[in-house]
Amino acid sequence: MDHAFWHDRWQRGDVGFHQSSVHDQLQRTWPKLAVQTGSSVFVPLAGKSLDMAWLAQQSHRVIGVELSEIAVGEFFSEAALTPTIVQTPSFLVFSAGPFTIYCGDIFDLTAQHLADVTALYDRAALIALPDHLRQRYVDHLTHLLAPDSQVLLIAIDYPIGEMEGPPFAVPFEEVHQLYAPAFDIDVIEIRDGLAHSDNLKKRGITRLEETVYRLRRRA
Ligand SMILES: C[S@@+](CC[C@H](N)C(=O)[O-])C[C@H]1O[C@@H](n2cnc3c(N)ncnc32)[C@H](O)[C@@H]1O
Repeated sequence: MDHAFWHDRWQRGDVGFHQSSVHDQLQRTWPKLAVQTGSSVFVPLAGKSLDMAWLAQQSHRVIGVELSEIAVGEFFSEAALTPTIVQTPSFLVFSAGPFTIYCGDIFDLTAQHLADVTALYDRAALIALPDHLRQRYVDHLTHLLAPDSQVLLIAIDYPIGEMEGPPFAVPFEEVHQLYAPAFDIDVIEIRDGLAHSDNLKKRGITRLEETVYRLRRRA
């Protein structure tokens, strides 16, 4: 899954992962984190997710990072916002209202970009990355997030071999292996995901478990 893969998908409008409504698990489970209103929430691999608008409605500032300029442009135009756009060495930075979206590669972000962030929302980010990038992604987040920061992570699991990712199956054992060295981990919801994903049902999988985790960065 190199950059060209994602640019090509946005170019062709092949964005079956995008949801036309706010993710129900976010709405249901976010309050359990009790993230302070007014604090900034980081949304990695943001796409043009409407979940960012919902987080802003909960009185958070939202900092996203997304590779595709098409996705970022569509996020702002669909929100009827006109962003200011600034070119920096690593990112084209789009800002309007409560939103700042860094258009570029997440691996170029530094802790300075996320100075006020106290929480992170990961839907279809970890599970979008192939095996060899997942450890690098978690190591990077571990470096970026301050102690006590929380993460709401939605991950999926399905029988090996039934579908070629993305999205990839990332079972509990792998979440544990990736995050346990630096984060405390709680499972806050497990559900049958097939009932909620026509897109993945059509791709032939017979079982889909969707798990919501609350992670807390240890000091
Ligand atoms: C499966 S989509 C999920 C988007 C969004 N989280 C959602 O729920 O709709 C993954 C997104 O990550 C972006 N992406 C992939 N690799 C990236 C990278 N290295 N840095 C920033 N964004 C990346 C892709 O362009 C794509 O929009």
